[in-house]
Amino acid sequence: MKPLIPALLLLVVGSAQAAPIAMEDQSQLKVPGKQAALQFTPPAEDELPANAFGKMVREGHALFVDTRRLMPEAVGNGMNCSNCHLDQGRMAHSAPLWGAYPMYPAYRKKNDKVNTFAERIQGCFQFSMNGKPPAADSPQMTALSVYAYWLSTKAPTGVEIAGRGYPEVAQPAGGYDFTRGQQVYREQCAICHGDNGEGQKVAGEYVMPPLWGKDSYNWGAGMHRINTAASFIKYNMPLGKPGSLSDQQAWDVAAWINRHERPQDPRLVEGSVEKTRVKFHANDGVNLYGQKVDGVLVGQGTGS
Ligand code: HEC
Ligand code: HEC
Repeated sequence: MKPLIPALLLLVVGSAQAAPIAMEDQSQLKVPGKQAALQFTPPAEDELPANAFGKMVREGHALFVDTRRLMPEAVGNGMNCSNCHLDQGRMAHSAPLWGAYPMYPAYRKKNDKVNTFAERIQGCFQFSMNGKPPAADSPQMTALSVYAYWLSTKAPTGVEIAGRGYPEVAQPAGGYDFTRGQQVYREQCAICHGDNGEGQKVAGEYVMPPLWGKDSYNWGAGMHRINTAASFIKYNMPLGKPGSLSDQQAWDVAAWINRHERPQDPRLVEGSVEKTRVKFHANDGVNLYGQKVDGVLVGQGTGS
């Protein structure tokens, strides 16, 4: 199996002077007041059996960390699954696969039905990856599910384990502020994600993922919610320094990122941002879709 973070990425991260996150850091997240004891550790790579099962787990791992390159027909932006599910889907508080897999099938408000694990992943393909989800019985979906199944070895089934999801960060009493968010962005994020949220490419491939624009997650993705992005950011960013931002900073910078355009919500209702806002965004956490910011309608999309 490939090393934790591709060497290329280590180089770039190194030059930004932030320590890459090591696997051991999972249990040492320095987030004040939120340090739930982790009861679960996913199996190590060298525990993988050298048989057909092990081979399929490796395939699923490869698809998870190299999604855009290996599944161009299913991915419509510049993202890999592991860009938001850090450390190859192993990192606690980064919606780890071992926290997710044992909880499905589960009801989801988003599509108002009981979702299988494959259907949940299809959701991330449609929105987070701005793409066309592979069929539930496709070889790729099977491999991705097997990878998650293996990471969940010995995890209890149907029991929420500490470290699942992105822990909620409550909205600060004073709300959020774009100007402050822009400042946090410039000082702590732009070095890796670019002055215009465009990410960084080396030899045509992203080594730092984009945060807005045509290659980012679309307007239907969970990350477009300011509350969800704030949670992800507080617990995972800046890379290598999780927990270093205040709740206020996390909300401010999340709001700054999510006021920028990105690909349209694929559920667009009759070509109308307003109708789409009413149907899908009015009760979807804190988000700016279909609202005006400084007189400009947010949610118009990036064309194609
Ligand atoms: C742009 C960021 C982003 C990308 C890229 C992304 N996801 Fe997600 N994913 C999320 C968010 C946000 C959630 C919701 C987490 C929550 O509810 O706390 C989520 C949830 C999930 C869940 C359910 C987690 C749980 O605990 O129930 C799974 C499984 C999942 N994603 C798999 C994938 C796979 C596989 C890919 C690649 C095909 C992928 N994701 C790509 C952001 C992303
Ligand atoms: C040292 C470089 C670095 C810094 C600094 C950094 N990031 Fe990231 N960020 C990354 C990398 C690399 C990933 C993808 C992680 C992976 O693939 O393992 C990422 C992922 C993300 C994602 C999810 C993926 C996406 O593209 O939407 C968001 C959101 C994000 N970062 C926001 C921020 C914010 C906000 C800051 C500043 C507070 C920040 N980052 C600072 C390197 C960095």
